[in-house]
Amino acid sequence: LAVGVVFGGRSGEHEISLRSAATILSALDPEKYHVIPIGITRSGVWVAGPAATEMLSLGGQVGGIESPSPARILASLSSVLGELDVVIPVLHGTYGEDGTIQGLFEMMDIPYVGCGVLASAAGMDKIVMKQLFRQAGLPVVEFRWFTSHAWTTEGDALQSDILRQLGLPVFVKPANLGSSVGITRVDDPADFAAAVALAAQYDRRIIVEKGYDVREIEVSVLGNDQPEASVPGEIISGAAFYDYADKYSPDSQSQLVIPAPLAPEQIEDVRRLAVRAFQAIDGAGLARVDFFLLRQTNTLMVNEINTMPGFTRISMYPKLWEASGWSLPAVLDRLIELAFA
Ligand code: ADP
Ligand code: DAL
Ligand code: MG
Repeated sequence: LAVGVVFGGRSGEHEISLRSAATILSALDPEKYHVIPIGITRSGVWVAGPAATEMLSLGGQVGGIESPSPARILASLSSVLGELDVVIPVLHGTYGEDGTIQGLFEMMDIPYVGCGVLASAAGMDKIVMKQLFRQAGLPVVEFRWFTSHAWTTEGDALQSDILRQLGLPVFVKPANLGSSVGITRVDDPADFAAAVALAAQYDRRIIVEKGYDVREIEVSVLGNDQPEASVPGEIISGAAFYDYADKYSPDSQSQLVIPAPLAPEQIEDVRRLAVRAFQAIDGAGLARVDFFLLRQTNTLMVNEINTMPGFTRISMYPKLWEASGWSLPAVLDRLIELAFA
């Protein structure tokens, strides 16, 4: 079976994707699969062979300078996607986890691992995702959202109205993105505008959430119509919140505790909620569902779903399955099967 592993891409999470792909490439059984690494540069050019291997080994140092034409992107794409039976889009964030590349594979009739167009797009957008969760009866944090256009025309009114409703602290985030890129915790109203300006660099739409004092619990989900949930894990963040550096830097103080120390009923609750969150966006293949456990009330809220969760060496998704009795090669076998189901 010819398996294309696609990584890199035009997103703020390019480097993380390279690290996720490295883990996946090393876990795919070469006896079973003919594995073809495929890189997408920061500017969107597709590369295979030695250029792809070089992208991986340089860890994000290549690409991004040239601004290729659509014709060049298309030519690069058709030269690498020729003989694949299935692809694993190991891409995080925009143009990878958001339904765009899934749409391309649909158009080309290439089976792919993971969520389809709708689930990917819904899961990437924190506003749509939380609206779907709320409609499915899942607990979500209180939030407001607005466009950057609305912010430039009526920013002062929006700010006072939102802070009156949500209080402080709040978390200001771009609607689309991940790995905490563009997110600010705001404790002082004087910092609100700068937080919005930062988020607006990444997206037209901005979400503001009420900030809570939380424990962070994550569950891995695997399956199509009958998804299964792993044991939950907990992240003990080493920073003010679980930001980019705390997620990935070598000197991060954050720790993963697996399984999460929770009461047995709470473990059942969180696993059930994870499956319901997956179904609320019509997930397929895999996702990691992230929860807040509010310290004050000991209640669970669904924070978000990641339809292509991190697979770096230190990432939760594979570790949670390992603790549930599924090695990474076994998880990948299952995901590839599910791509054809
Ligand atoms: P990303 O998609 O980038 O991971 P999240 O919405 O998960 O974005 O936010 C990143 C981190 O910020 C969370 O893991 C948590 O540490 C903190 N955080 C985000 N929203 C809230 C909130 N409403 N209350 C408390 N902490 C939050
Ligand atoms: N967005 C990162 C990769 C994650 O959710 O693990
Ligand atoms: Mg998160």
